[in-house]
Amino acid sequence: MTQDLEKAKAKSREVLELISKKELTQDERDKVIEESVRYWTDHVNAGFLKYRKSVSTDYTAVEWEDNGAVFRDINGKEFIDMLGGFGVYNVGHRHPTVLKAVTEQLQRQAIHSQELIDPLRTYLAHLVSLITPGDLNYSFFSNSGTESVEGCMKMAMLATGRKHFVGTVGAFHGKTLGSLGGTSKAMFREPFMPLLRWSHIPFGDVKALETALSCADFNGDRVAAFVVEPVQGEGGINVAPPGYLKAARELCDKYGAVLVFDEIQSGMGRTGKMFYCDYEGVVPDLMALGKAFGGGVMPIGAVVGTEKVWAKYVENPFLHTTTFGGNPLACAAAIATISVLLDEDLPKQAKEKGEYMIPKMNQLAKRYPNVLSVIRGVGLMIGMEFTSNETGYSVAKELFARNILISGTYINARVLRVEPPLVISYEQIDIFLKALEESIAVVSKLQPALT
Ligand SMILES: Cc1ncc(COP(=O)(O)O)c(C=O)c1O
Repeated sequence: MTQDLEKAKAKSREVLELISKKELTQDERDKVIEESVRYWTDHVNAGFLKYRKSVSTDYTAVEWEDNGAVFRDINGKEFIDMLGGFGVYNVGHRHPTVLKAVTEQLQRQAIHSQELIDPLRTYLAHLVSLITPGDLNYSFFSNSGTESVEGCMKMAMLATGRKHFVGTVGAFHGKTLGSLGGTSKAMFREPFMPLLRWSHIPFGDVKALETALSCADFNGDRVAAFVVEPVQGEGGINVAPPGYLKAARELCDKYGAVLVFDEIQSGMGRTGKMFYCDYEGVVPDLMALGKAFGGGVMPIGAVVGTEKVWAKYVENPFLHTTTFGGNPLACAAAIATISVLLDEDLPKQAKEKGEYMIPKMNQLAKRYPNVLSVIRGVGLMIGMEFTSNETGYSVAKELFARNILISGTYINARVLRVEPPLVISYEQIDIFLKALEESIAVVSKLQPALT
């Protein structure tokens, strides 16, 4: 497209009209579908479009509206959301309390001046200090998960004066140039090397951690931080083995490294506690938050830390700043999210619903071993590992045909993740389980039997 301001003026008005419409005619729906696919190809990324089609057989599944545990495509077809936006919709899609807080704040002020004291940031930081374990009392608010991990890395460098990080095989921490080093899949990192210094050790391996922490690297640099997801999400839903987090705490203390828990996906009630580390009673020095922190309504993340790791940053607060991080709308959403999580006791609901689902899913694994190998997870962070990437994909496709959205994990394609909104009803869970059984049965018929 060449520059054409008149055309842009007309088109922007047209889209605003579309947004304001309560109902669309069939012609309008068809036009949105056609234009969305065309503009995605022409202006976003043709290569990515085929993945965005996901498991639908055509491009008509253009998403349009959502609430609770469902979303609807532009033609009104309803899907149960078993993917949960990769861990974003813990309080459900557009929870009324979150919507109300954001809408009311929007009537007053959207973005802060950057100069005066903005109160919602301070209330949110206070609340975060109340819901996180131990002495995690300070917060820096970001706009995304990867920015939260970047912030943790900078705080760890400031606190220790060291520059080397240790992460785990299967980890996903984001894709900006700092956090990318911690994301273990080589394919994502290779084109961007050299990155900051990261080593990866097997997840759950205490001995490997001690070796990594005790060795200076070839530049003589010791480890600034061990960064770990207490439950690996994109690595295929791998729960830290019992005692692993505690051992990591002890080893980090022994070798003067900062312990960072990335609870971006496992936090905010998803695993049955507010944070997974609450199960083990282990307090990190820094915690990264994101995804569900904004209630599925606003993007917001957080770097949460102790007084000790914050000290250098207090001496010079300009070492890490952001224009939009902690803006009043995002803070209103996060404050409402915390209120909803506690009012509705969603962590407990997640635990109970997980305990309801996992045994039933295990029975399916027993009955169809040629399709489904293993179920693992905690609360509503559940992974289904299939016998191959293809069987998993075929099951996802069958589920989509039964109006259920599900997707794989990013680093382990054999695993489909089950991460529905924590508000999902038992009736919706039963619909999913029935559809899952039907889907697996269909795929099983096409598979060779295991001997
Ligand atoms: C554990 C974890 N950390 C970090 C990130 C990166 O978050 P974002 O995509 O918001 O940058 C993700 C995203 O999937 C994640 O699951």
